[in-house]
Parts: sequence; structure tokens; C-alpha cells
Amino acid sequence: MPMDRDASHSGHSDDSDAPLLGVRGCLIDTPHLGRLRERKDTAILIENGRIVDIGAYNLLHKKASSKARWLHNARAAIFPGLIDLHSHLPQYPAVAKGRSELLPWLRQTVFPLEREFGEAKARKESMAFFRELARHGTTTAMLYGSVNEAACEAAFEAAEKSGLRVIMGMLMMDIASYGASQPKKVMSIALLESERLCEKWHGARAGMLEYAFSPRFAVSCSEKLMKGAAELAAKHSAFLQMHLAENFEELEKVKNQFSWAADYADVYDKCGLLTPRTVLSHCIHLSDREMDVVAASGARVAHCPTANLFLGSGVMPMEKMHDRGIPIGLGSGVGAGTELNLWQVMRSAIESQKMRSYYDGDARVPSPAEVFYMATQGAAEVLGKENMIGSLDVGKDADFIVVDYGAFLPYRKTARQQRDELSAEDLLSLCIYRGGPHGTMETFVRGNSVYRAAEPDLF
Ligand code: GUN
Repeated sequence: MPMDRDASHSGHSDDSDAPLLGVRGCLIDTPHLGRLRERKDTAILIENGRIVDIGAYNLLHKKASSKARWLHNARAAIFPGLIDLHSHLPQYPAVAKGRSELLPWLRQTVFPLEREFGEAKARKESMAFFRELARHGTTTAMLYGSVNEAACEAAFEAAEKSGLRVIMGMLMMDIASYGASQPKKVMSIALLESERLCEKWHGARAGMLEYAFSPRFAVSCSEKLMKGAAELAAKHSAFLQMHLAENFEELEKVKNQFSWAADYADVYDKCGLLTPRTVLSHCIHLSDREMDVVAASGARVAHCPTANLFLGSGVMPMEKMHDRGIPIGLGSGVGAGTELNLWQVMRSAIESQKMRSYYDGDARVPSPAEVFYMATQGAAEVLGKENMIGSLDVGKDADFIVVDYGAFLPYRKTARQQRDELSAEDLLSLCIYRGGPHGTMETFVRGNSVYRAAEPDLF
């Protein structure tokens, strides 16, 4: 039976003309690191994109039934929308390609693809990309575009139409860029174009779209470009995103290129790039000193375990970041990450630490609730949006996903009893180990449905 949309009611709240939406299900979230909260047969009431009430379905339905449009399903799971802190939009077609480590993979697989990612391609692919995110249950994404301004413009237009919450920036690089077939992206042009995009899109669509200045990594950026990006981000209160310490060959190159710096983190620090609005992806091979610098600066980390395993880059020492209080969330890391499916990124976050624990006594294996926090409330904290998204609480924006977790069970349709017997821990674990877009029934951002499965075949 499809999810029952009780269309008989549409009306008004007591103090507003805005229509109310009521959604029924089993609410699961992690408002605090590692602490799972389950609210069975519960309803959320949404008005003007915000959660205005949460309570037992029976009570809330009685209270608001004549005023709200209802989506009922006692056994659907409702999770906060997933937050992807690191992905490259132009790289999605390259997933799972190549067998080399980071730098040759960039040269052979990624650069040719990015070089071709002009306006026409961006117009064709961006809308599909955002739909893919929504289908996977991702409601907020932090993304790199290509080096092409018109392509970024088209990607922002698609983001606007998609209804998702998107932080994005034009990729900046002015050295070692794209080889002989393409002239260098001149530093001053990259800064000018990025600022133009920022002025147009940062804060657009009532704050749903934001800008991130995006100097790729120290290997492909001059000191001047990095300093320029830092200044512009400060001027516009925008985000910054860079890759950091992902691969040993990359580390060697940075050491040679920036002999004046103490280490890789010092390059970014001296260029003014480490701020509380900076998201650093990967961060696998940082020294204790570098982690202290990152922690002191307030910068944040996007952990991308599927990408790190695909390129054989290494395993991030997660506990060292946690112990220093560095906020960490998860990123799909596409196209080094092989999928946009954040459930599988959570799985990799657990399994890579499990593997590490066999040879490193310091490794702490995160629980399902801990990695789920890193994909929701923890990621919201990385973005400074912990009071806006990340958990299901009154006053927050209504970013959530309705999941048919039965789709993840073995023999899905014959397992009704098994479904009822699942504890919250089992249910979350099921999603993490077997979850994916086939279970996403509907995705909501700020109370608007941005994806709905064609035939939610439920119960
Ligand atoms: N470091 C610099 N650029 C990239 C990129 O596109 N992907 C990954 N995984 N690492 C990078």
C-alpha cells in the first residue's frame, strides 16, 4: 500500500495562514554524539518549513487533524536529512574508474573530465546530480564545481530548482592545472570569477544556497591564490573548502613547493585559510602538531572513508580529531568516493576503523549511532547549522527523510514480524549496512518534498 496521503485536510494553524503538514512514523535521530533517540508512532507538524510540534501520533492527530494534510505511516522510519560535506559535482560520471593513487588518478581520470565540464555539460548533468542526492536521502551538500564560471552558474541554477540546501564553489587552481592542453587558470581571473559567483549566490533562496571559496589543494594553488581566497571568504562571510593531507605523494609535493612552511597545515594557516567556516576534506596524514593547529583555528573536517579506501590513501585517525574537539562530519568524496550513498559512507567509517584497530591500538571503532551523528547533527555542527538542521526538534527546519527500512531486510515483504521486532539500534544498523536509495520514500527540505519515490511500495 502506498503511503497514505490524507488529503481531506488542508487548513490553517491557529495563528497563521500557512498550511500545516503532519508526518507520521518512527522518529530516529542522534541529537548528541552516540546517543540514539527513538520515538515510535510519533508525528511531526510542519509549518512554514519549520517543525512546530512533535508528539505521540494519536494526540497530535487529534489536535491538528482538521488543520493539516497528513502523511501517515506508523512503520516508516523518519530520519533527519543526511548531510554530505564533500563531493565534486563534475566528477560523478568518473566514479569507480581508475586504479591508481591520488595524483595519477587526478591526471588520468579527473582532469580530462573536469576540463570538459563547461556550461552545456553543467546544464545537462547538474539537475540529475541534485536529484540523485535527494534520492539518496541527502538534503544538504557541500560541493566543488568545475573551474568554469558559466558551468558553476548553471550548477547553482540547478541547485536552486532542486530545493536542496547546497554550499558550492568554483574550483580554483592556478598551477599544475590540466596539463598542456589547457592554459593555466590565471589567479586573478579565478578570484574575480569566484567573487562574482559568491555575490550572486551566497545566501540566495532564503539562505538555502551558499558559497564556498574552493582553492583545490596546495599542490595546485599559488600562495597568492590561497591568500586571495581567504580574503574573499572573510569579506563575504562565506565558506572555504580545501583538500588536506590525503596522500603521501601529495605531502611530498607540498613540502617541496612550500619550503617556508613547517608542514601542510602551516601552508593553509599562513595563507589565512584555516577558519571556523573552513571544511577540510580527508585529513588522513596530519601530525599531532597539525591537528593541534586545525583544532585551534576552529576549522572543521569532512571525513571521506569510501574515497580514501578507493584511492588507497589511508585511514583517518578519527579518535585523534574527536579528542581535540575538531568537529567532523562525513563526505561521499565523489568521484574518489564511489557513490553518493551516505549510508554506505557511514558503513565505511565503521569498517575502516575496525580494520585499523587490528594494527593500531589507538583506533576506536565508532558505533552506528556515532557515524549517524557524523552524517546528521555532527555535520550540521561542522557547517555551524546545529540549531537549524541535523536532528528532529521543534524549532528546526523540516529537513528529513522517510525511509522504508523494510526494503533493506532480507526477503523484504515476508519479514513483517521481523520488522516490528527491530530495536532502534538494529534498525539504524540495518540502514547503515544495507541502506540506499531503494529505501528512500520521500525527502523533505525545509518542509518541501524534493524527492518522492515513484511507487512507495510499503507494507
Ligand atoms: N585533492 C585535490 N583534488 C582532489 C580531488 O578532486 N579529489 C580528491 N579525492 N582529492 C583531491
